[in-house]
Amino acid sequence: MSDCIDCNSYDEENSCCTSNGKSPIRKCINEIIRNYCTQDLNNKNILEIGYGRNRYFRKNVKEEGGRWFGLDPHTCGATHKGVAKDAGEIFDELFDIIYAGQTMEHWRSDEKVAENIKSLHSVLKDGGWLYINVPIYSHGNKMFVLYDEKKILECLNICSWEKIEFERWRYNYASLAPFNPFRKKFAKKLSVISSQETPSIWVLEIRLKK
Ligand SMILES: C[S@@+](CC[C@H](N)C(=O)[O-])C[C@H]1O[C@@H](n2cnc3c(N)ncnc32)[C@H](O)[C@@H]1O
Repeated sequence: MSDCIDCNSYDEENSCCTSNGKSPIRKCINEIIRNYCTQDLNNKNILEIGYGRNRYFRKNVKEEGGRWFGLDPHTCGATHKGVAKDAGEIFDELFDIIYAGQTMEHWRSDEKVAENIKSLHSVLKDGGWLYINVPIYSHGNKMFVLYDEKKILECLNICSWEKIEFERWRYNYASLAPFNPFRKKFAKKLSVISSQETPSIWVLEIRLKK
């Protein structure tokens, strides 16, 4: 949803976003999750990578009848403790959907990103989807902070995918306010590389079909 004004959650009359979420990009993430959960999830095996303290995806999956599994190095009340690269060793089952929201930017090196993608691919059913979202111009791995699309694709293409889809959320944020709590060292650079009117953090959604 590149243009906020075209989003289901945009209230034209009041020029505001009606999605729930504490920050502007959290509103986008919750809208992305709601979209996934409109498909039939009944009895589907669904793995969430790097869920942290967030319960929103899990709650929606369970409400729609999906079987939720979670993997995070810092578990709190969930199914598995560990990192994405070990998914192939941790799980016996294969998944219909794997969701990795706001975690990939923390997989510090490009090698680690590629290694994790490979492992997640190995526990995905043929025809299954890996759904990823990351903040752009925000924090973590530089390929996301500076939006290096070529590098991102290189890491994803370590495996063979039937489909790779990219969608930008909050990229054209008019007539909402920009969201730009950038680190100082990046602010100048982003004002050069961003084609937004005023540089603003946005969310990249990646959908990969095996
Ligand atoms: C910013 S939090 C995001 C939490 C949640 N997904 C959300 O949207 O609020 C990042 C999470 O990724 C997890 N994480 C970091 N590296 C990981 C890895 N290699 N494999 C799995 N999870 C990882 C962290 O433990 C943390 O819970």
